[in-house]
This record gives sequence, C-alpha cells and structure tokens, in this order.
Amino acid sequence: MKLTSRIITTDRTPVFAGDHALASVDKLISSLHLGRDGIFVLVDKNTKQHCLPLAVQKSVHLAGAVILEIDGGEASKSLLTAERLWKDLLAAGAGRRSLLVNLGGGVVSDLGGFVAAGYKRGIGYINIPTSLMGQADAAIGGKTSVNLGPVKNQVGFFYPAKGVFIFPGFQTTLSCDHLRSGMAEIIKSAIVGNARLWKRILVYSPADLLGLAPEHPFRLELLANAIRFKNEVVVKDFREQKLRKVLNFGHTIGHALEAYSQAEGRNPMLHGDAVAAGMVCAAFLSNRKTDLPTGEMVALISWITAGFPSYPVPGSDLQTIMELMKHDKKNTAGQIRFTLISKPGIPRVDIACDPSEIIEALACYQEPRQVG
Ligand SMILES: NC(=O)c1ccc[n+]([C@@H]2O[C@H](COP(=O)([O-])OP(=O)(O)OC[C@H]3O[C@@H](n4cnc5c(N)ncnc54)[C@H](O)[C@@H]3O)[C@@H](O)[C@H]2O)c1
Repeated sequence: MKLTSRIITTDRTPVFAGDHALASVDKLISSLHLGRDGIFVLVDKNTKQHCLPLAVQKSVHLAGAVILEIDGGEASKSLLTAERLWKDLLAAGAGRRSLLVNLGGGVVSDLGGFVAAGYKRGIGYINIPTSLMGQADAAIGGKTSVNLGPVKNQVGFFYPAKGVFIFPGFQTTLSCDHLRSGMAEIIKSAIVGNARLWKRILVYSPADLLGLAPEHPFRLELLANAIRFKNEVVVKDFREQKLRKVLNFGHTIGHALEAYSQAEGRNPMLHGDAVAAGMVCAAFLSNRKTDLPTGEMVALISWITAGFPSYPVPGSDLQTIMELMKHDKKNTAGQIRFTLISKPGIPRVDIACDPSEIIEALACYQEPRQVG
C-alpha cells in the first residue's frame, strides 16, 4: 500500500500523510488563518540540520518563521525547558494568534504541544513529526506533556494540534537506534489492533523488518496502520476515558523502566526499547490474567527479545520499578492497572495485577527463555 497525501478527517485534527504531506502545510496555515501574530518553529539540533531545510523549502510560511531550538533527548521534556521557551516566545513578541510548529520527534511534539497549551492560555500548534516514533504515534492525538523529575509525562494537557503532517522521507536520516525505538510503537499498533498484520510481521525477523527502506511498501503499510489505528482510537476517546487505554499496551512497566533507566549512573533506555520491554511483561501477564494462548505469548516474546536490547535490572531494584509504576495514570484505588490482550487484536483494559504478578513478569523479562 502506498501512503498518498490525503486527509484523514477527524473531528479535531486533520492528519496529512505521504510524500506530498509537506505541500499541505501552507494550505492549512492559510485556510485557517493561523499564525497571524507570528510563526515559530521548534527544532532540536538534529531536526534543524536534517529536516528544517526541506520544511522551509516546501513552505513559504515556515521560511519566514522564527526558529526556536532545544537540546535533543528526553531531558528536554521538562518544565525548565518549557519555561525557557515561554520566555523566548514572550521576548519575540508572540501573541495569542501565534502558531508553534513542532518539527521533530516525540520530545519536540510533546514539549511543543505543552508549551503551546500553556502560553497565554493556549496558542495554535501543528506537528511535523520527523522520527518514526513521532510519525507512528507521538504527534497524533493531542497528548502533550513534560516529565516531572524521573517520572514520565506527569504534567500535561489534552490539547489537539491544528494539523499533523507526516512525511515518511524524514526517516532516512534517523539513527538505527531511533528507528528501532519507533518500530516498537508500530508493532504495538498491530498487536493490539490488527492481528492479521501482526501475523505478517512475524514472518520477518526484526532485523529484516528494520532493514526495509522507509519507502518499502510493507514499511509504509505498517506506518499507515499505526496512524489509522491511533487516529481512530483518539477520535472515539480523546480524553482516555476507556478505549484510548488500548494504546498503553506495554507502557505501564515500560514507562517505569524508562524512568528507572534515566537515573544518574544508569544507561538511559529509549522510549521504544522500554515499551518493547513492557510488551514482553504485558504478554506474560496476558497469558496469566486474560488467557492469551501460550503459543501467542511465546511468539510475541521471542520476536521482541530478538529485536530489542535487553535491560538488566538487579533484583534489589525491582521495588524501585514498582514504586515508579505507582505513578501510572491508569491506576485507581491504589491498584496498578494494565492494558493486556486476550489475543492479538483483542485488547483488554483496566486489568488490575498484584505486585507479586508484576514482579514475576519482570523476572520473565530478565529471563525470557524460561517462559513457555
Ligand atoms: N504524546 C504521545 O502520545 C506520545 C506517544 C509516544 C511517545 N511519546 C513520547 O515521545 C518521546 C520519544 O519520541 P522520539 O523517539 O521521537 O524521541 P526524540 O524526539 O528524542 O527523537 C529521537 C532522536 O532522533 C532525532 N531525530 C528526530 N528526527 C530525526 C530525523 N529525521 N533525522 C535525524 N535525527 C532525527 C532527535 O533529534 C533525537 O535525537 C518520548 O518522550 C515519549 O514519551 C509521546
């Protein structure tokens, strides 16, 4: 399937995806009269180098914009960086009708959306995601946030973008590690929402799948599936009352591991690697709690552990991971709640798991070969 430039119309945010997606940026800005008090483009060092030149070539509006730059990486998703950007916007005379254009990966779109939501009680923003993670997931759905110390996404708003523009060609300059990280969310979309696609993914080894060029028809099909799935879910349940929780498969333990790994002296995990680890644990819990057949669990765990790096956690630190999990926004009444599956394509949300079950799942992640 080829991704063509087209609008997936939602009640909130139009998503343009495909080779000609960038050609739609000016059309949307003009038709919605965005940026009358100035246009600002948020980049990090890498997207300034690799993506900004093409973006300004394709858009007259962006060519005349003020550039705001942040350091790349998760550490920038902080209140400190948000405050600096608010001050930069103020100093540059940004007003209520200014437009912020987030040109970058998930860090840029999460942070930029947060900054837009807070500045003068809310200015418009659009996302032009440049990483696979951003294109498949982060830029869609209007969840904006910053981290609070080590804890992920604790302060934020549901604040929809005016438009999302997905140009797959940006992926060509991504590092292998960030490509793999984005692939985790692509895989998640298939496991949770498209059993037939998941079966077809299993035919590939993870290395072969990652080796496909961004314009390969199967890679485009996977991206299109992730975009469509996320968009459909978000349109039905923007504020995550219930259905949207299906997107959190792998994220409860994943976010805790990611936060744990960010502490000083440890080796920080990429978001997608942490989600992949979380999906291994979620598959184990799904087998125990929601009757995921053992064969399906083994297939999922084997595929993921072959494709993603393992992250050793000493037994003495498991309690730290449990503590971090207590901040998960899905928890209620002190219970840690998971999104699990009973089969690929059949998600189950709000499944409470006991600490002992979670510890067992983490142990399975540490020793996946003993599962079965
Ligand atoms: N809001 C949501 O719904 C949602 C969903 C998933 C993930 N997220 C968040 O997204 C973040 C992770 O996103 P990410 O993996 O994109 O991280 P990122 O934004 O840090 O990008 C990864 C790296 O790739 C570089 N990069 C981006 N595009 C590039 C390009 N085209 N060429 C070369 N380098 C490029 C960046 O500079 C960075 O170094 C996490 O904070 C996660 O919590 C949010």
